[in-house]
Amino acid sequence: MNIYDIAVIPGDGIGKEVVPASLEVLNTVAEVHGGLKFNFTSYPWSCDYYLEHGKMMPDNGIQILQNYTAVFLGAVGDPQRVPDHVSLWGLLIKIRREFEQVINIRPAKYIKGIQSPLHSPNDFDLIVVRENSEGEYSEIGGRIHKGEDEVAIQGAVFTRKGTERAIRYGFKLAEQRKGRVTSATKSNGIVHSMPFWDDVFNEVRKDYPGIETSSCHIDALAAFFVTRPHTFDVIVASNLFGDILTDLGAAIMGSIGIAPAANININGKYPSMFEPVHGSAPDIVGKGIANPIGQIWTAKMMLDHLGEVEAGRKMLEVMESVIQDGIKTPDIGGTSSTTEVVQEICRRLKTL
Ligand code: NAD
Ligand code: IPM
Ligand code: MN
Repeated sequence: MNIYDIAVIPGDGIGKEVVPASLEVLNTVAEVHGGLKFNFTSYPWSCDYYLEHGKMMPDNGIQILQNYTAVFLGAVGDPQRVPDHVSLWGLLIKIRREFEQVINIRPAKYIKGIQSPLHSPNDFDLIVVRENSEGEYSEIGGRIHKGEDEVAIQGAVFTRKGTERAIRYGFKLAEQRKGRVTSATKSNGIVHSMPFWDDVFNEVRKDYPGIETSSCHIDALAAFFVTRPHTFDVIVASNLFGDILTDLGAAIMGSIGIAPAANININGKYPSMFEPVHGSAPDIVGKGIANPIGQIWTAKMMLDHLGEVEAGRKMLEVMESVIQDGIKTPDIGGTSSTTEVVQEICRRLKTL
C-alpha cells in the first residue's frame, strides 16, 4: 500500500469549494485503484486566519508543512479584506520560496467538449515551464517620495543558477515530449535581463542537440498563443512572462477555471506544492458554480509527481469524458454545479 501524507490548504474564496471537491475525487481514485491511500491534513491558513491571528500562517507553518510529501493548495487572496501583497507574500509566495519550488509547470491543451475562444483550434498541447523563484518577482524596490514625486521601483533579479535550472528543466521535459523548446524573451535590449536570459538559453541548448529550439519575443509569443498554439511544445519563461502566458494558455483552452499547475522542488529536499493557475475568484464565490477541473487536473499532476501515473491517467480520462458529455460548469458553457461535476466524476471512476 502506498500511503501519502498530504498537507491541504484550501485558502480563500473558491479554494474552499474546489479543494474539498478534489479531495473527494482523489479519495475515490485511491479506492478504485487499490494499493493507494491519502492521509489529508487540512490547515485553515487564509485571509480569515490572518484577520483572526494577524498572520497568514503560524510562525512554525513552514516547519509543519515540511513533514508532508506534498502540499495541495486552492488559492490565496481576499483583496477586499486583506491587501494582496500581505496575503500572497505571507502564504503562497512564502511557501514557494521557503521550499525552493523553483519551477512552475503549467500545461495547456485542447480539450474536446470545451469551446475554445479560438475559431478553429488545432489540437494544441503545450507546457509552460515558468521560473518560479526570482526574476521580476523580487523583493527589491519599493515606493519612495510622496505625492506628485512618488516613484515605484521594482528590481528584477536573474541569477545564472536560477535561469539555467529553469531552462534546463524545459529541455529535459521536451526530451520526453515533442522535442521542441521555445524561449520566451524580450531580447531587443530594452531590459538588461533578457539578453542575459538568451545567453544562458544558447549555452544550455548546446547540451541538447536533438532538441529543436526557437526564441520568441514575449509580445509576439502572446499573439502566437492565439494564432498558432499547436506549433508549441515546451516554452521556457521567466516568472512574470510565465505568469501572463499561462493565464493566456488557460484562456485558449476555454477557461482559467480548468488550468492546472505544479510548483516543483527539483532537489527533493522539500515538498512540492500543487495549486491551479486560477485565483480565489471573489466574483463567483458561494454560488456553487466554481469549475473544479483546474484543481482536479492539478491533483492529477500531484499523482504524476508521486509516481502514481496510472491513477492519474484514470482521473484525467474520466474528467475528459465527463466534460465531453456536457456535465460542466457555466464558465465552459454548461449548467452544472461544482458538486454535480464532482459527483459524476466519482460515479464514473467507480464504474471503471
Ligand atoms: P482569478 O483567477 O481569481 O479570477 C479571474 C476570473 O476567472 C474571474 O472572473 C473568476 O470568476 C474566473 N475564475 C477563476 N477561477 C475559476 C473557476 N475555477 N471556475 C470558474 N471561473 C473561474 O483572478 P483575479 O480575479 O485576478 O484574482 C482574485 C484573487 O486571487 C486575488 O486576490 C489574486 O491575488 C488571487 N490569486 C491567487 C492565486 C493563487 O493563489 N494561486 C492565483 C491568481 C490570483
Ligand atoms: C499565479 C498567481 C500568483 C503569481 C500571484 C497570486 C502572486 O497569479 O500563481 O499565477 O503571480 O505567481
Ligand atoms: Mn497568475
